[in-house]
Amino acid sequence: MSLYALGDLHLHFASETRIPVQTNDPVWKGHEIRFETFCRKLVGPDDVLLLAGDHSWGRRNTEWEPDLEYICSLPGRKVLLRGNHDSFWDAKKTAALNRRYEGRLFFLQNNYYPYRDYALVGTKGFTFEGPFYLDRHRRIIGWDEEKAVHAQQLVEREAERLEASFASAKADGYSRFIVFLHYPPTNILEQESVFTRMAEDYGAEQVVYAHCHGQSRFHDSLLGDHNGILYRLVSGDYLQWRPEKILD
Ligand SMILES: [Fe+2]
Ligand SMILES: [Fe+2]
Repeated sequence: MSLYALGDLHLHFASETRIPVQTNDPVWKGHEIRFETFCRKLVGPDDVLLLAGDHSWGRRNTEWEPDLEYICSLPGRKVLLRGNHDSFWDAKKTAALNRRYEGRLFFLQNNYYPYRDYALVGTKGFTFEGPFYLDRHRRIIGWDEEKAVHAQQLVEREAERLEASFASAKADGYSRFIVFLHYPPTNILEQESVFTRMAEDYGAEQVVYAHCHGQSRFHDSLLGDHNGILYRLVSGDYLQWRPEKILD
């Protein structure tokens, strides 16, 4: 039994893609075929495949349902995290989605997914992404204060959801945790955040996140070991569509 993760499939079997890079950059060419091929090679029926958000560009049911059917058809037990582009998944619809896809997909929010003696906990998360103001040496010299205040509210809301996820696992007796976020755990100005502190307080072993696309974004947040926690980026283009093994 193994745990794999990858994020940002940005599927659009029945809808239009909404980022030009997806049609221009070769890394995205036939990515759903490459990902599926990797999955069939690596992921067994008892393995867990965690998909870390931004699953579908679809807005209407007829647009996103084919994308979720593709995910259902992949091998392993699929656990989904909410991304910022998943308009099919309103925060209040998690229970309804879990009922509808019971036995096929698990939607992770305010709950947890058991894996051996671990609890997989998680939420979408949030990080302030600017606008930042740069000087002529491209050093950050300021940022949009109003947007920063709004971002802080969203961070607090998401921190509550992550706390709820941890608490439900802890109430069931779990003490080993892997944390999944769609957004990076820190913004580009931070070395720590409410998410990293919570991961440390609960003794989480890893924090796994996605959302960062393109070379220039791959180092936006923590990577590797920080305060005893392993931070990993699993956005699909970063991994070139090969799911990352998180645990054996
Ligand atoms: Fe994305
Ligand atoms: Fe995203």
